[in-house]
Amino acid sequence: MKRDVRILLLGEPKVGKTSLIMSLVGEEFPEKVPLKAEEITIPADVTPEKVPTHIVDYSETEQTDQVLREEIVKANVVCVVYDVTNEDTIDKIKTKWIPLVNGDAEKGKKVPIILVGNKSDLRSGSSMETILPIMNQFSEIETCVECSAKNLKNISELFYYAQKAVLHPTAPLYDPEDKQLKPMCVRALSRIFSISDQDNDHILSDAELNCFQKACFGNPLAPQALEDVKTVVWKNTSDGVQDNGLTLNGFLFLNTLFIQRGRHETTWTILRKFGYDDTLEMTDDFLYPQLRVSVGCTTELNHLGHQFLQRLFEKYDEDKDSALSPTELRNLFCVFPYMPWGAEVHSAVSTTEEGYISYDGYLCQWTLTAYLDIHRCLEHLGYLGYPIVTDQESQTAAVTVTREKEVDLEKCQTQRSVFLCKVIGPRGTGKTAFLQAFVGRNAARVGSFNVAFSPYTINTVEVSNQEKYLILYEVDVETEFLKASDASCDVACLMYDASDPHSFDYCASIYKQHYMESSIPCVLVASKADLAEVKQFHGTTPAEFCYKHRLPPPIPFSSLSMDSTNKTIYTKLAWAAMFPHLNGSDLSNTSFWLRVTLGTAVVTVLGFAIYRIFARQR
Ligand code: GTP
Ligand code: MG
Repeated sequence: MKRDVRILLLGEPKVGKTSLIMSLVGEEFPEKVPLKAEEITIPADVTPEKVPTHIVDYSETEQTDQVLREEIVKANVVCVVYDVTNEDTIDKIKTKWIPLVNGDAEKGKKVPIILVGNKSDLRSGSSMETILPIMNQFSEIETCVECSAKNLKNISELFYYAQKAVLHPTAPLYDPEDKQLKPMCVRALSRIFSISDQDNDHILSDAELNCFQKACFGNPLAPQALEDVKTVVWKNTSDGVQDNGLTLNGFLFLNTLFIQRGRHETTWTILRKFGYDDTLEMTDDFLYPQLRVSVGCTTELNHLGHQFLQRLFEKYDEDKDSALSPTELRNLFCVFPYMPWGAEVHSAVSTTEEGYISYDGYLCQWTLTAYLDIHRCLEHLGYLGYPIVTDQESQTAAVTVTREKEVDLEKCQTQRSVFLCKVIGPRGTGKTAFLQAFVGRNAARVGSFNVAFSPYTINTVEVSNQEKYLILYEVDVETEFLKASDASCDVACLMYDASDPHSFDYCASIYKQHYMESSIPCVLVASKADLAEVKQFHGTTPAEFCYKHRLPPPIPFSSLSMDSTNKTIYTKLAWAAMFPHLNGSDLSNTSFWLRVTLGTAVVTVLGFAIYRIFARQR
């Protein structure tokens, strides 16, 4: 909405422009007026719409054509004043003044005009008959008003209409030639209808209408008013009322009626509440509310966010199968200007047998967006009308910014519920299969679905009786790990191919380069455990390597088996991410296994480890 309003009065000499301004300001008719009134500014608090308003006079005798043109450019609205007793001043409206103001402007960019018939005290009838054809000819004329500077009739109304024409413009909403709402306005109102239709039955019930009314105007409708509204719609449309509620057509009709009756501010109030600006685009203020996220903090959906998303899911899961079919998903996002989730979602989260997004998968995808790109997430919640539906200040109410990781590490505990694991290994190790197994798909099934690749998968895991989200991110070894920051994550999963003798070398070097000195816990995974294990060319065996670096021993993984052993790997990763200070400490319960594999080497390595412990204590 505009922050101030500039009203310019034009018209033939002696029609009473200066008198009108002086009457408004002085609240009485001035017998003698100067040729041109000084520009006046009415402070915001005394105007009906609470915006500062500048009123500018024009005098042909005092001003050049050049100055006049400059004033027209600056004006937000022009009042063309005529004398109701003087036909010639009416003729000049269409032959001179309107062409002067909007002659060169393209459609949609025209300055709104208000026709003002002054000196109504001198005439008993009305000038409407002559004015109406002009109004029909020029769509930029917002309204007309007859008034008298002499007996102060309609003076404040005139300036109110002018102010309204600027603050609640008709042009973006309504096409006066077609006598219907413009497509952009229909689209915006349809989105508002969908959001307000809480049960998705395509009808606004009394309860839904009341919620809507309360959200937009602050108070519910009186029962009688509700009935009156429906009656008007029912009388004027064939399909506007159904099952005692308002259909989309009924809702659109109602808004058309507001506008046709000069009550645009009603429709504008609704549109602004749902985030639209004067051009019917959604404002950045609405879509991207400020949220400070310091370095080392992450972003998660909180219980309010989850509650909202759960209700949304239930609303659109029409067949109640706890999964969203492609159609249901499209309907859920019908309030977006674009489809926010691409095909890669189907590889990032768990899906049903048919490949539909399950409820858990749906929540996971939201969690992933909130973690990776919180501004995107807030934007999405904005399109869904989060602040209106939940009666919150903004979408930020749905998210939590976690405390800095440094602090978590210091205190050896965390409140976070989302953790990032980077899965690192040479090409062909089976990283993708590992990621897909996490969301319950085995390699064979991945191929059978024609879905886009996602470097992320996300699922829930239970750690210490708490449900946590774990994000797996597959690192492309050819293009990533160029910068030190590429290594950052909550846990690193170093993966090597147990059937490829060259594979472990890579993991060892990545570990030494990026993780050995860091506080990030590492877990080694030996993939393709179903194949025969071969000896790695690396100097030490993977098991020795882990022992030496106080890492838990490598965990075997096979994408062919979908049993619970695989599941424990993911739990271990989440566990390591949650308790980074304990990494390697579960060495003890695997020492038997270690001793078996290490054989004699264990003695020397153990000696070394004991030496290290002593060295540290000193
Ligand atoms: P320019 O500055 O020359 O362009 O004229 P203007 O449009 O500013 O007109 P102005 O206010 O000077 O008024 C012209 C004459 O009309 C004055 O004598 C006013 O007293 C008179 N007048 C203005 N408004 C009214 C009105 O509402 N009723 C009557 N009866 N006379 C009016
Ligand atoms: Mg004047």
